[in-house]
Amino acid sequence: MHDQPVSTAAIQTLDVTLTVNGRELSLALDPRVTLLDALREHLGLTGSKKGCDHGQCGACTVLVDGRRINSCLTLAVMHAGDEVVTIEGLGQPDRLHPMQAAFLEHDGFQCGYCTPGQICSAVGMLEEARAGFPSVVTADLVSEPVLDDPEIRERMSGNICRCAAYPNIVAAIRQVRGAP
Ligand code: FES
Ligand code: FES
Repeated sequence: MHDQPVSTAAIQTLDVTLTVNGRELSLALDPRVTLLDALREHLGLTGSKKGCDHGQCGACTVLVDGRRINSCLTLAVMHAGDEVVTIEGLGQPDRLHPMQAAFLEHDGFQCGYCTPGQICSAVGMLEEARAGFPSVVTADLVSEPVLDDPEIRERMSGNICRCAAYPNIVAAIRQVRGAP
């Protein structure tokens, strides 16, 4: 069997401009680059983690126009003009987002690998609940959802924690949620 010749053709790139953590950025990207790889490999924002790279773990969760998404499952060029917020943009060490502070207070992590995704997901999840989105365990589809522990667990079920810090993650989210 003969080896196939290796193509030396230059990779075609597309120009894309998106806002990341409040900064408008222009990138020339291979259109196959995922948003996660654009953030990590092109912008050096390594807070968002690559756990599975196919939508099963939630470690790559970021906020796009305020909604949580798995950044490994979407192409960067699809987000021209969008506002992306990663864990780096949510808060700063001296000015933590309330969800970051609550995770610290409640020890909502052990190794920390899933934590950026957990925190971004939790922030997006609270907004979804405020907007009235039901989950699969919501019994009353008319009233605003009550975020009790089963609701929180269900709504965070796309974020896997291999260290099983789940009770403390729920406690942190419960604190930011306030009175149910
Ligand atoms: Fe995206 Fe696992 S890395 S869901
Ligand atoms: Fe280790 Fe969640 S804290 S995977």
